[in-house]
Amino acid sequence: MSWVKEQSPDDKIVQENIIKEGKLPKHIAVIMDGNGRWALERGLSRTEGHQEGIESVRDIVKASSQIGVKYLTLYAFSIENWKRPITEVGVLMKLLEHYLRQELEELHNNNVRLLSIGKSSSLPKVVQRLLHESCETTKDNTGLTLTLALSYSGRWDIVRAVQMIALDVRRGKVSPEDINEDLFSNYLQTKGIPEPDLLIRTSGEMRLSNFLLWEMAYGEMYITDKYWPEFRRNDLYDALLNFMNRERRFGKTSAQVASENYIKQKDSYLQRVVNAIKGK
Ligand code: FPP
Repeated sequence: MSWVKEQSPDDKIVQENIIKEGKLPKHIAVIMDGNGRWALERGLSRTEGHQEGIESVRDIVKASSQIGVKYLTLYAFSIENWKRPITEVGVLMKLLEHYLRQELEELHNNNVRLLSIGKSSSLPKVVQRLLHESCETTKDNTGLTLTLALSYSGRWDIVRAVQMIALDVRRGKVSPEDINEDLFSNYLQTKGIPEPDLLIRTSGEMRLSNFLLWEMAYGEMYITDKYWPEFRRNDLYDALLNFMNRERRFGKTSAQVASENYIKQKDSYLQRVVNAIKGK
């Protein structure tokens, strides 16, 4: 089913108005938290909380794709999550397996490219195979890039990058003086993915929880009290509008940012005038 065709007219208008507001984040990362608490407060099992969490995943993936976000990264399972009771880990792995089986066709039909980051060798073999197949099938898609962080932790990825750089130094491929931020980023699993502009965390916790530690150096954070299973597209729109009204300075002063924006606007106005004269 095409996600563009199934979108309601009202939702389309809301999305168009958000786009008009200004700059959409190119990359949104999400810490999906609160499945357990959502279930507990409703007298349901934690499994039911995770199941409902998948409905939120579906809606947020669709809405991000429809509105034109280019990258969405979901923290679906951390390395620390392996410490949960074995039954809950089993449920989460089964849900992931079902999700990949059920969604692949729809993701592919809607031009979504699927990627994963994390220590995939720790995942059950069937999940590894499905992930591999899904990433292969969708690798040439040009719409939303959906990255699932599975058995992932930011420190794990940083340590892994350091080990690989050390090996390349030993092999003579890299000299220590060449190590800089760009080179380091290229050894991370997020290589090629732009840094997140916006990180959303549900259920009110004010922590990064070992997610994208290097990549979030300048990312904006949006924290909502809503639990993940109740976080749907309208909540995403609130986060987007909140983000769009912030000033991102990347260490510069407000005055510098304002003058840069003025120059950019002037340049684009002049370019439009030139194009109009040339009849483009
Ligand atoms: C946090 O809630 C959520 C998780 C550890 C797992 C997130 C997984 C899903 C939403 C489903 C599978 C994902 C995909 C992409 C198919 P919690 O259990 O920590 O909640 P709590 O803090 O209230 O206990």
